[in-house]
Amino acid sequence: MATKPILVSGMQPSGRLHIGNYLGALKNFVELQDFGDYQCYFFIADLHSMTEPYEPSEKRRQIINLTADFLAAGIDPKKSVVFLQSLVPAHSELAWILNTITPMGELERMTQFKDKSARQEANVNAGLFTYPVLMAADILLYGTRVVPVGDDQLQHLELTRTVARKFNTRFGGTTFMEPKGLLTKTPRVMSLKDPSKKMSKSQPESCLFLDDEPEEIAAKIARAVTDSDTKIAYDPEKKPGLSNLLEIYAALTHLEPEAVAKEFSGATYAEFKKKLTSLVSSYFAEFRANKKKLMAKPNTLIKVLESGSKKAAKVADVKMAEVKKKVGLRA
Ligand code: ADP
Ligand code: TRP
Repeated sequence: MATKPILVSGMQPSGRLHIGNYLGALKNFVELQDFGDYQCYFFIADLHSMTEPYEPSEKRRQIINLTADFLAAGIDPKKSVVFLQSLVPAHSELAWILNTITPMGELERMTQFKDKSARQEANVNAGLFTYPVLMAADILLYGTRVVPVGDDQLQHLELTRTVARKFNTRFGGTTFMEPKGLLTKTPRVMSLKDPSKKMSKSQPESCLFLDDEPEEIAAKIARAVTDSDTKIAYDPEKKPGLSNLLEIYAALTHLEPEAVAKEFSGATYAEFKKKLTSLVSSYFAEFRANKKKLMAKPNTLIKVLESGSKKAAKVADVKMAEVKKKVGLRA
């Protein structure tokens, strides 16, 4: 049997998922899984999430919550390997080895590092700096071809390719493959409050969360920043707020944003916002119901992670043995 190309992606358990995470990444995870062309690995990046301020007593809950999000959205542990990063020690081990060949200068260029250090001035830890090296390890361990992510992660993927090349050149052979990023049509959903910035968990008031109740969705969309014009048109430059809402509508209905603008050409902003509200509420109704059921059985979710992590570790350990040999640690 021919083996399928490998697809890997992860998310940090650091808060509730928003519609940017969904349209930029998670929705694509599910579609790619169901498409069946790839062997998919989806994981909870708990080690990465320790680089931002967190409460130890909440971390476990966040891990379970994100696992429920994955499954509620349609990730199926029978089709994909679903695992927890910290249950596969090879990730940390490879990250250390890759640290020793990654130039500081490459890491200093990372915009996410610059943004996050500015945001958490009191906690600019070394983990935040080497974050992309751990991400490279996550990806390179599995012989990954494609990595579905939002566009804010593309720079990290470029670094992953650089590190893979450096390793292969330094130690000879082709231990690592260079992966490609896979973007959706909405790789950057913008903030509801400030459409010049991306929607981000760090600004909760800018987000539509996947498990928001219909009343919250209605209130947030009603308050979403648009412009003072009255004509509905898709124009990201001149009408960034409205265009962001049109893009969300388009992504959920598999239409182009221009076509959505045309459909609402005679409507007021308020009328369009009402329609968007009912679309978002009904689109995620099944997700909300699934998630409630899954959260009632946390032990089942933990079992999913444990069994997936065993499968992932089997693959990762083989690559780790090869790496240790290459770098001279083993005969
Ligand atoms: P956040 O920036 O909200 O903390 P994460 O960094 O945990 O989100 O991102 C998880 C995934 O969701 C990544 O693949 C990321 O690229 C994607 N993503 C995050 N925010 C957005 C957004 N506003 N639009 C599209 N994709 C996004
Ligand atoms: N850095 C990613 C994010 O913030 C999460 C992540 C960690 C990831 N390791 C990965 C994504 C490997 C894809 C592949 O969203």
